Amino acid sequence: MGETGNMDAPGSGSLATINDDHVVAAYARWAPIYDWSFGAFTRRPCREAVAEMNTLPPGRIIELGVGTGISLPLYDRKHRITGVDLSREMLARARKRVAEDGLSHVEALEVMDAGALSFEDGAFDAAMAMFVITVVPDPGKVMAEMARVVRPGGTVILVSHFSVETGPRAVVERYMARFSSRLGWRPNFPIETVLGRPELRLVERRPVKSFDLFTLLRFERV
Ligand SMILES: C[S@@+](CC[C@H](N)C(=O)[O-])C[C@H]1O[C@@H](n2cnc3c(N)ncnc32)[C@H](O)[C@@H]1O
Repeated sequence: MGETGNMDAPGSGSLATINDDHVVAAYARWAPIYDWSFGAFTRRPCREAVAEMNTLPPGRIIELGVGTGISLPLYDRKHRITGVDLSREMLARARKRVAEDGLSHVEALEVMDAGALSFEDGAFDAAMAMFVITVVPDPGKVMAEMARVVRPGGTVILVSHFSVETGPRAVVERYMARFSSRLGWRPNFPIETVLGRPELRLVERRPVKSFDLFTLLRFERV
């Protein structure tokens, strides 16, 4: 897997480069400790986002960057869930969870690049990506792929950290950005990177707790 390059966010300068190898290496390290470290920190926003999916009529949902599958037990059993992730180590933990917890609403878990999905256009009623869009090598491709595989009228939900322009947090984010490839995510990631796509109409934007660091975005597939 090679370098997939940068995408420029409007008015933000270049995003730090992360490639697939960085991601795979970073999440092979994270996998054994993910659930009780970053995963514990993000449990509340994860619950909020899945609760929003659970208000939708029964449908097929794809979760991109499903990781160790922390979210999977939270989905209502009326839905059928497909999860994809680039990291075999993270996905192995998701598979174990599905088997141990008898999560029969999980249809498939596949090693796959969220920027090059093997599914047909409109194959899903909804797509979810939690704490993923700042991590992928090419966020523009992933947004385009989410829009492609969700049917018109369907739902796309993103939960992510987005960077701020001013104040102490902005200083910290800009400083940390130089370690993006090592961290496997981009601390400096403006929200504009994911907005303004004609096929995804923004219908909701709200902060979700933990520590006011995360934002939930809900789009309707036009
Ligand atoms: C911070 S973790 C979030 C995991 C999960 N969504 C959660 O909330 O617990 C980011 C996940 O995105 C995955 N990932 C990164 N780039 C990816 C890509 N291009 N395609 C699919 N998954 C990717 C990583 O392997 C990792 O499992």
